Amino acid sequence: MHKRIRKVVIPVAGLGTRVLPATKSIPKELLPVVDRPLIDYVVAEARDAGIEHVILVTGRGKTAIEDYFDHAFELETTLKAKAKTDILAEVEKTIPRAGDLSYTRQQAPLGLGHAVWCARAIVGDEAFAVSLPDEIAPHKPGFLRQMVDAYETVGGNLVAVEEVPREETSKYGVIAPKARKGNLIEMSGMVEKPKPEAAPSNFRIIGRYILQPDIFHLLETQEKGAGGEIQLTDSMNKLNSKQKFHACICEGAILDCGSKLGWLMANLDLGLKNAELGGQLRDYLKRRLT
Ligand code: G1P
Repeated sequence: MHKRIRKVVIPVAGLGTRVLPATKSIPKELLPVVDRPLIDYVVAEARDAGIEHVILVTGRGKTAIEDYFDHAFELETTLKAKAKTDILAEVEKTIPRAGDLSYTRQQAPLGLGHAVWCARAIVGDEAFAVSLPDEIAPHKPGFLRQMVDAYETVGGNLVAVEEVPREETSKYGVIAPKARKGNLIEMSGMVEKPKPEAAPSNFRIIGRYILQPDIFHLLETQEKGAGGEIQLTDSMNKLNSKQKFHACICEGAILDCGSKLGWLMANLDLGLKNAELGGQLRDYLKRRLT
């Protein structure tokens, strides 16, 4: 029996350069997909996985994220006065229980590894999850739920993976698979953003991780890697040679909203599945495409 995963680190300090100018004055984590911002999907996925405490690693220009998770008194009072109880309930659902959310700041954009390291004091000495909010996994059970379940069986460290066309490996972290058992793969290594000809496989890392706290010691002295940044993948690669580490193939699709096309596709995907809007959106698209 492994100790429960209670905390998730969500880095939200990135500049969102792939979706500029949309993200010039709003954080990319607040870009909406249908009717909710990206960050809302990722926090909901963590809650569904039984995670109690969310740690957001923020940066300059990101205070709107803190406001999203707080009361909006004027709005709530107006909705109450107008008896718009359904909308009010939706708005109130976004607010976590007091104390269930912590913030820390990454003061300089030194890379994902550095962002995760910034959360070390709040995580403390226990295994924890990391979720990258560019990617949303609306499938039920969510990716984190599936990983937490796998963790309860095998323990150690886990990273989610999926197969991609070989020409796309340079956009991601990529694993070198060793042995596969069901949906879990043992690895001989991991490499960040390899060129297709140098990639050890076409299994790319998805932004969902379960890590032992030992990762913080490795991150502390991690030298810069791909793109001149402190890469989480490089420290995970070191951890893989010391501890149990599995790549996990989760069920369901992951939607990468960190690019313009990915964001548009996610809106269509979830818009079509939306109970209230899906039918009309489908009719509209049919008309547009014929
Ligand atoms: C990060 C990770 C990479 C992973 C990717 C998933 O890259 O460093 O290993 O494959 O997220 O989205 P980034 O998107 O920050 O460049």
